[in-house]
Amino acid sequence: MEVIIEGKVKTVYQGDDSQQVIIEYHDKVTAGNGEKEDHPLGKGSLCCSISALIFEKLAKELIPTHYINMVGANKMICKKVDIVPLEVICRNRAAGSIVRETTLNEGQPLPQPIVEFFLKDDSKHDPLLTPDRVRLMGYDPKPFIEMTLRINDILRSLFYILGIDLVDFKVEYGYDAHGDLYLADEISPDSMRLWKIGGEERFDKDLFRKDEGDIVPAYRQILDKLQPLAVT
Ligand code: C5P
Repeated sequence: MEVIIEGKVKTVYQGDDSQQVIIEYHDKVTAGNGEKEDHPLGKGSLCCSISALIFEKLAKELIPTHYINMVGANKMICKKVDIVPLEVICRNRAAGSIVRETTLNEGQPLPQPIVEFFLKDDSKHDPLLTPDRVRLMGYDPKPFIEMTLRINDILRSLFYILGIDLVDFKVEYGYDAHGDLYLADEISPDSMRLWKIGGEERFDKDLFRKDEGDIVPAYRQILDKLQPLAVT
């Protein structure tokens, strides 16, 4: 298969149909812009299955997503889109970079969800952007903010039922050949913070980032919890 992009933990191949791609999720996890790396067995298929269930749930709620279907345990066929070079982050509680870079405390609930933009460019260390900078790059922030807040409402409710607090998450978007906007990339515990409500347990990549435990059993718990609920 012809490789279109070799990412840190995924490879994107050209599909048989010129308007489709195949995304392969690898048994690999990285942190700190690739400085830390591991190869946990089964991680690729877990992230692929979790992403697929979440995309299916969002599509049912009328969010346009690039996901078409899974092919094998760790590959999905998706609509081909031009990826917007923005990492769009939504936060319900303070954690990670917002704690490091502001006076907010870890876990502090935000008065309302916020959406932030970061440049998707590892060579520049993904800096935080202002809405003006996003506009100067040629993108109107409004549709990204609106769609991301809708996704947050849907996923927050979904995880709440599972006893999990959706602390924050990252999404990426792309445009198809007609200029229509689609949710793209992946949504998995690699790109979300998932905290047990009323407990200390974590089910996301922070386990790996902070050396606090194995991600594979944690991600498996998320898949097991989502499986019966995501398509209802
Ligand atoms: O790094 P930060 O704390 O700002 O991340 C916020 C959320 O976005 C976290 O859930 C993190 O896993 C996700 N994220 C990501 N990819 C990045 C940066 C952040 O998935 N490059």
